Amino acid sequence: MTAETVTPYEKIGGAAAVRRLAEAFYDVMDTPEYTQLRAMHEPDLGPTREALAGFLTAWLGGPRDWITSQGGFCVMSRHAGMGITEGTRAQWMAAMQCALAQAEIAPPWADKMMQALEPVSRAMLRRR
Ligand code: HEM
Repeated sequence: MTAETVTPYEKIGGAAAVRRLAEAFYDVMDTPEYTQLRAMHEPDLGPTREALAGFLTAWLGGPRDWITSQGGFCVMSRHAGMGITEGTRAQWMAAMQCALAQAEIAPPWADKMMQALEPVSRAMLRRR
């Protein structure tokens, strides 16, 4: 395997790392600091934990099993009509930053992920 073929998924630690990250993300969100963002989600975060782990696996270049099991998935369409404000977007990004640290994702990769998620989350903002 050449350096070029090593995916971010493998670089951050594969399935175990992505699982840690998804679990940490919703554990963080489920604390009082993130009440507004938490209120947008279902009471049971179990299915969303699975979905985020599956999505991130594919997004980072890992296996696409979860996307296939959904019959395809468009992260932008999924968030359209949610009425995402700058406030809830900022909470999402802050929760992800905290989760990356808690899940012990190596800083260069955590930084790259935050940089990549910035425009994605901005594109999800509510349009007037
Ligand atoms: C910009 C701020 C964001 C907000 C406020 C937000 C909010 C939400 C909400 C309310 C749900 C539905 C959860 C439920 O039904 O319980 C959801 C699901 C999800 N979000 Fe976000 N989200 C944001 C950004 C992102 C980003 C940047 C990504 C990934 C790049 C992402 C990935 C997902 C995934 C994979 C799901 C699960 C989809 C499913 O179950 O079908 N979200 N999000």
